[in-house]
Amino acid sequence: MRTKPNSARLSLTFISTMVSTMVFLALGSASALAQQNAPTQAPSSSLDTESLHSISPIQLERLKSLSRQKNCFSCHTLDKNFVGPSYKDIAAHYTSSPLVETQLTQRLLHGTRGKWGVIPMPSNPQLSEAEGREIINLILKLK
Ligand code: HEC
Repeated sequence: MRTKPNSARLSLTFISTMVSTMVFLALGSASALAQQNAPTQAPSSSLDTESLHSISPIQLERLKSLSRQKNCFSCHTLDKNFVGPSYKDIAAHYTSSPLVETQLTQRLLHGTRGKWGVIPMPSNPQLSEAEGREIINLILKLK
């Protein structure tokens, strides 16, 4: 019976090792590329802005700065329930429309209770109606 010469068996082993090394290297560089393309800066909030299609990064910044300025963040956060419901939950709860915006703006300016829990929201006289409407409009984009 003829057996393959050792050298042939060796070169087969060599070739298959080479092939798997090449595949390994190719996969490695693909994942390195993917990592290069990933954003290098972590978003400043834990909100996953990639999944929010209706708010732009600029609008999100505007919402955050208005909310800081107008003291909303002492009771609300973007994505976690705190004293009041999270902005994200509010956005998910309402369908955006001019009527809903008007209603929420009025509740925001004059205070409201009983929609989310037992804690009432006091009136917010530090807001003009236009500012209130702008914040509401931005909150409702968080979906
Ligand atoms: C003192 C705490 C507090 C502050 C300050 C506050 N909120 Fe609220 N907010 C609440 C609470 C509590 C609720 C839930 C009220 C309820 O159950 O109806 C609420 C509810 C809301 C709602 C939902 C209203 C509804 O009818 O569904 C919006 C929108 C809102 N707040 C936005 C804001 C914005 C914008 C600011 C800043 C201008 C602000 N809040 C400031 C505590 C606060």
